[in-house]
Amino acid sequence: MNRILITGATGQLGSELTMALRKIHGGQQVLASGRSHPPPPALAESGPFVYLDVTDHRALTEVVSHHRINTIFHLAALLSAVAEAHPQLAWQVNMGGLTNVLEVARCHGCAVFFPSSIGAFGPTTPQDHTPQDTLQQPTTIYGITKLSGELLCNYYFHRFGVDCRGVRYPGLISYVARPGGGTTDYAVEIFHAARRGETYSCFLGPDSRLDMMYMPDAVRAAISLMEAESGPLVHRNGYNITAMNFSPGELAAAIRRHIPTFKIDYSIDPLRQAIANSWPHCVDDSVARREWGWQPHFSLEEMVTDMLAKLPRDRKKKGE
Ligand code: SER
Repeated sequence: MNRILITGATGQLGSELTMALRKIHGGQQVLASGRSHPPPPALAESGPFVYLDVTDHRALTEVVSHHRINTIFHLAALLSAVAEAHPQLAWQVNMGGLTNVLEVARCHGCAVFFPSSIGAFGPTTPQDHTPQDTLQQPTTIYGITKLSGELLCNYYFHRFGVDCRGVRYPGLISYVARPGGGTTDYAVEIFHAARRGETYSCFLGPDSRLDMMYMPDAVRAAISLMEAESGPLVHRNGYNITAMNFSPGELAAAIRRHIPTFKIDYSIDPLRQAIANSWPHCVDDSVARREWGWQPHFSLEEMVTDMLAKLPRDRKKKGE
């Protein structure tokens, strides 16, 4: 892993994973890509950035061969709520992008990291301590692309020897780039409202419990899985990982321990509530712990303390 391409590098996970990989491997070794014109300054200044649409097979092939890429972190995808609003586009980007990445990886000998999600589960999956291997019947187009992606990555490994690895991320919480159109986005938005001194109007109900993770753990998970010895990786793709689980009511209470005046109210979005209701409350990540030593560092309390310390007070939303 020393000539790295990141797709979706301007996204919530991509912007921080790119910086972490550049710290380890050097800026020039890590090619960030995405569809932003111009790219965010932090990405543009710390190493190379290329405009890339992952549905364009020819452009992807050119980038990988020109830069002699040997590892692809394929993060470009539509998140759950926006995918549900545009299902055909979600299939085109999430599946079309992945099939292009896997084909290019097969032809150029690249390893691939593929982020799946708790969205790969559905209403028939056991919601508590969701096992690694269980019933997966997702009812969202996002979940269908994530489950298909896990299966396709394992297929490329067994059929063609492409070194594909991946995890099922829970909701990711961070203060750098905002998530774009997910069901778990409330857990980021709430901090911005709290820091602006505003009441947060939550689109999920107070008791909607979901798995979550603070970004430093999410970045570490991707890097350590890709660096792990191949031998013990029996599952390879779709590893359950989690760091904490909470409901909006519990997160608001944790924020109130720092900002006692903080208030939340609820204005439920039926689409995102239905998506959340179909996902697990808490997954069992013991297989990831056993096969590649996964361990989260940040608890709910530690995450809340760090988020509030890092987010400047009264920070305005982009465009305000
Ligand atoms: N955070 C994602 C979403 O809400 C789930 O993987 O879409």
